[in-house]
Parts: sequence; structure tokens; C-alpha cells
Amino acid sequence: MDKRPIGMFDSGSGGLTVLKEYTKLLPNEDFIYFGDTAHLPYGDKSPEKIREYCESIVKFLIEKNVKMIVIACGTASANAYSYLKEHFDIEIKSIIEPTASSLKDSNIGVIATKATIRSNAWENAIKAFNPEANITSIACPLFVPLIEEGLIDNPGTDYIIKEYMDKLNVENNNITSVVMGCTHYPLLANKLQSALPDDVRLINVGEISAQDTLNYLKANNMQNDSSHEGKIELHSSDNFTFFKENAKTLGFIVD
Ligand code: DGL
Repeated sequence: MDKRPIGMFDSGSGGLTVLKEYTKLLPNEDFIYFGDTAHLPYGDKSPEKIREYCESIVKFLIEKNVKMIVIACGTASANAYSYLKEHFDIEIKSIIEPTASSLKDSNIGVIATKATIRSNAWENAIKAFNPEANITSIACPLFVPLIEEGLIDNPGTDYIIKEYMDKLNVENNNITSVVMGCTHYPLLANKLQSALPDDVRLINVGEISAQDTLNYLKANNMQNDSSHEGKIELHSSDNFTFFKENAKTLGFIVD
């Protein structure tokens, strides 16, 4: 048993969709979540900058004595995972590999930020497990600002979703699963699903990541006590009040 919290981070509120899945599957674990709101969005930054930001967050979480770290951000997973694994002696999990290993479809769509698509991390990871897969990747750079600005229900968002989904062209590309490769996107899941044919599966990386971490903790006898009710500690690098509001909207109890 290991009672220490799990560390988790994202550029902002997106990773809270991952945290949400963790709290469902691992209700006895404590979490320390860091939203790097001072540097959001990561999606238009260079790999070097993203690594630099992630490195200081990982140091912060290690100082908080976490037992492992989950990169609850697609862009950071794509651009900094290998670097962080190499430089820190703590278990670090990307959200990309567990999802990639679970995809058996022949034609897969990936939607994510510009920095994620540019890195080819999803293509490489999916092909490592499923070499014959055809992958269509589309950057959707307007989704994160729309979500962070609270414009999910704005009609303008429907218009932008349609533009990006037309580009993905699931019918012509015979796509059967679309990966939400950015952890902000599950906040648009209902709208995205409505813009896609009913039989296209929308993949939430947080669900798969939570299961992967549960397996890891069990295998290493690192779970928290089953009678313990998990707590969440939130941190952000800027605008904590705004960040807390986003967390509240997502159903997290924040004092
Ligand atoms: N949630 C981050 C991701 O998964 C958002 C990226 C951004 O900050 O642009 O990619």
C-alpha cells in the first residue's frame, strides 16, 4: 500500500476531464493536480518550451511527495513524455500509449492540438501496436480557447466543430474511431458525437488512462487503502480563481 497522492498536470482545465475519470475508477486515491494556466495553451508552443514547462511542474509535484505522475495533457504527452522519463526517477505516465495500444480499428481519426499533430506522437504510438492502421490526424487549434473561455454552448462552437469534422471526413476515410487526443476535448464530446455518424466511436483518453494506472498500482501494490476517501488538491500557475471556477463547473468540490 502507498498512501501518497497521485500527481497530475495539464496546461489548464483540460486535464480535469482525466482527473474526473480517475476519481470514478480510483475513489480512494488522493490527487494533486497542477494546471499551468500561466502558459496555456501549450498547443501553439515549441517542443522545447513545452518540455521546460513540464520539467518545472514535475519538480513541483515530486516536492509534494507524489507516488507517480500522470501527464493529463495530450500536448505535453506528445512533446515531453520521453524527455521527462529520461530525466526523472519516478513513474510517469503519458495518456497516449495506453490509448494507442487499445485501438484495433483499421481506420482511425485523431483530433488534437497543433503541437501534438506536428509531433506525430499518435501516429507513431498507434502504428507501434497496429502497423496496418490508416490514421487521419487533424489539428483543431480553436477548441482549447473556446473551452477555456466558457463558450462550449455558443453557436460559433458548433460552426467550428463542423469545419474540423468536415476536414476529418470520416465517411470517405472509413474512420470508425476518433481519438480526442487533447484532454480538453471531452468537454465537447456531446457536440462532437452529434457532428459524427452514430456508429463512430469517440475515444476519451482519460477513461483508458485511469484503467491503465489502476492496473499499474495493483500490480505494484501501490493502491491507497480502500476505506480512505480520496481528496483533491488543486494548483495553478496563474489565475487560480478562474481556474477554480472551471473546476467547479466540471463538478469538482473546491473550497
Ligand atoms: N489539454 C491539453 C492537451 O491535452 C491542451 C493543450 C493546450 O494547452 O493547447 O493537449
